[in-house]
Amino acid sequence: MENAYPELDKILAKFQDKKGSLIPLLQEVQKERGYLSRETMQYLADKMEIPSAEIFGVATFYSMFRLKPQGKHLIRVCKGTACHVSDVDSIKNAIIEILQLPEGENTTSDMQFTVMEVACLGCCSLAPVIMIDGKTYGKLVPEAIPAILNQYKNGDSE
Ligand code: FES
Repeated sequence: MENAYPELDKILAKFQDKKGSLIPLLQEVQKERGYLSRETMQYLADKMEIPSAEIFGVATFYSMFRLKPQGKHLIRVCKGTACHVSDVDSIKNAIIEILQLPEGENTTSDMQFTVMEVACLGCCSLAPVIMIDGKTYGKLVPEAIPAILNQYKNGDSE
């Protein structure tokens, strides 16, 4: 096989003698490539001489691994208890509706936004909370969502 991924080889070399290090290895690969494509996982399996099912198994088991490319802006919707009881679902539904995300998809077709549910974001007194890229938005109501998303659509807010 041709050596198509020198950056992956570098990561593989780093973990070469570390048994049981598949998870940190995959984390590093994801950091480097943004997500774990099938092609990437197959490449790692070939190089490591392990069954590709082993890598797919780990990558699909842990929610921290992304198997699809992520949009430019990451919207984290808190699913912690305080946010749950504050009806964060209505916030999520508003986001999905505005972004016109098809069922089962979490990234918009223009690759601008990815929506994901996460555990408590650590600011429960502001529930319901979302975080877009590094910025937190709290005490949300669905009506506030269009204006918030517009900042990212138009001006690529920081
Ligand atoms: S439960 Fe949402 S910030 Fe804690």
